[in-house]
Amino acid sequence: MSETAELANLFPFDPSDPGFRADPYPVFRSMREQAPALRTAPGMWVVTGFPECSDVLRNRSFGHGDGSLVASQITTNADGEEVRPFVFLDPPDHTRIRRLVTKAFSASMIEKLRSRAEELASGLLAKAATGEPVNLMTSLALAMPSQLISELLGVPAEDKPLFEQWSAALGRGLDPDFMLTPEEAEQRNRARAEFDEYFAELARRRQTEPAADLVSALVAVAEDGDRLSQTELVSTCRLLLSAGYLSTAHLIGNGVAALLRHPEQLEWFRANPGEAVGVVEELLRFDSPVQVAGMRLALEDTEIAGQPVAAGEAVTIMVGAANHDPRAFENADTLDVSRKPERNLGFGVGAHFCVGAPLARLSTQVALTELVTRYRIERADAGATRIDNLVLRGYADLPVLLNAA
Ligand code: HEM
Repeated sequence: MSETAELANLFPFDPSDPGFRADPYPVFRSMREQAPALRTAPGMWVVTGFPECSDVLRNRSFGHGDGSLVASQITTNADGEEVRPFVFLDPPDHTRIRRLVTKAFSASMIEKLRSRAEELASGLLAKAATGEPVNLMTSLALAMPSQLISELLGVPAEDKPLFEQWSAALGRGLDPDFMLTPEEAEQRNRARAEFDEYFAELARRRQTEPAADLVSALVAVAEDGDRLSQTELVSTCRLLLSAGYLSTAHLIGNGVAALLRHPEQLEWFRANPGEAVGVVEELLRFDSPVQVAGMRLALEDTEIAGQPVAAGEAVTIMVGAANHDPRAFENADTLDVSRKPERNLGFGVGAHFCVGAPLARLSTQVALTELVTRYRIERADAGATRIDNLVLRGYADLPVLLNAA
C-alpha cells in the first residue's frame, strides 16, 4: 500500500466522497455508535463523542509536543528560528503568548467593531439585493469578515485581495498534507512565506508609526517586562487572519444555508431578532465551520474514555461530530434556533479555546440579523457547491435571491 493510501485509511470514511461532503453527520453517528473514541490504526485515534472530545481538549496529557503531527504548519525563518503559531504550542510557551495576544485583542477592541460590522453588512446586502441570483459567499459571507479582519489588523484596503488569495491557500492547507495535491501544498507554503514577509514589514512600520489597529497593539503589548518577539508577532498575525477569516465566512454561509433548508426556523428568527445570540450558537453547533479542532499527541501514557492511549499516539478531535452527540444535546440532529444555548465545541474548549470567538460571534450575529430583518431570502435554482476540505466545512457557491422585505 502506498504511504498516501495508508494515511488516508486513518479515517474510517472517505472525506472527499460527495455523499459525505453533503451530509457527514450520519457517518459520524455510526462511528460514534461504534465507539466515541475509535482507534483506527496503530497509534491513531478518531474521537467523535462530545464528552470524549471535551476531555481530550482539556487534558494536559494531550498536546503538540515536538510538533511532529503538525509539521506541515511549522516553518523555519531566514535566521533559522522555528516559526510555530501559538495554536500549535503547549504550555508554558502557549500560555505566555496567548496571554499577551488576548491583552492586545481585547473585548473592548472587538465591541468597537460592531457599528462597522453593521455598516459593512448593510452595504454588502444592499448591493446584493437585486432580485437576481447571487452567490451569498462572495456577496456577503466572505466579503464581510475579510474586510472586518483586514481593517482590525490595519491592512490597507488595496492589499485586501492579496489576503483573500493567501487565506484561501492557507485554508486549503489546513487539511493534512496527504489530502492535498502537491500544487495545493506548494500554494500553501508560498502563501505562508509571502504573508510573513508582508506582516514583518507592516509590523516594522507600526513600530515607528503606531496606528489604532491590532498589529500596533501586538507590537506594543507588554506584561511583566515580557513582549512578543518579531517571529511570534508575525506568526500570530498570520494565525489571526487565517484562523478568523474563512471560519467566520463559513459560519455565515452554513448558517444561511441551514436556515433556508428549515424555513420555519428562518421565520422564527425573523420574528425574534433579539435572539440572535442563541440562533448563532445553534447554527455553530448544527453545522460547524471548523469540523476538526486540530490533532493532539498523547504526551504521556493516558486514556480516553477508559481506553489506554500510549505516549506518542495521535488523536483527531472531530468537534463537528461531537456537536451532534445525543448524550450532550436533545434531538441533536435537529436544528432548533430557539433552543437554550448549551456550550458546544464549535470554538473548542480548554487552553486553546478560540481567541476570536467574540469577533466571530459579533460578525455572524450582525450579518444574519441584518439579512433576516431587512430582506426576503430564497434559494436560487442553481445548485450549491461545498468546498473541498475536511477541517473547514462550508460552501464555495451558495446561490440565493435577495429582495428588500
Ligand atoms: C466561526 C468562526 C470560528 C471558529 C468556528 C473557530 C474555531 C476555533 C477552534 C475550534 C479553535 C481551537 C483549536 C484547537 O483547540 O486546537 C480555535 C482556536 C483559535 N482561533 Fe478560532 N474560530 C473562529 C474564528 C476565529 C477568529 C475570528 C479569530 C481571530 C481573528 C480566531 C482566532 C483563533 C486563534 C488565535 C486560536 C488559537 C487559540 C489558542 O491556541 O490558544 N478564530 N478557533
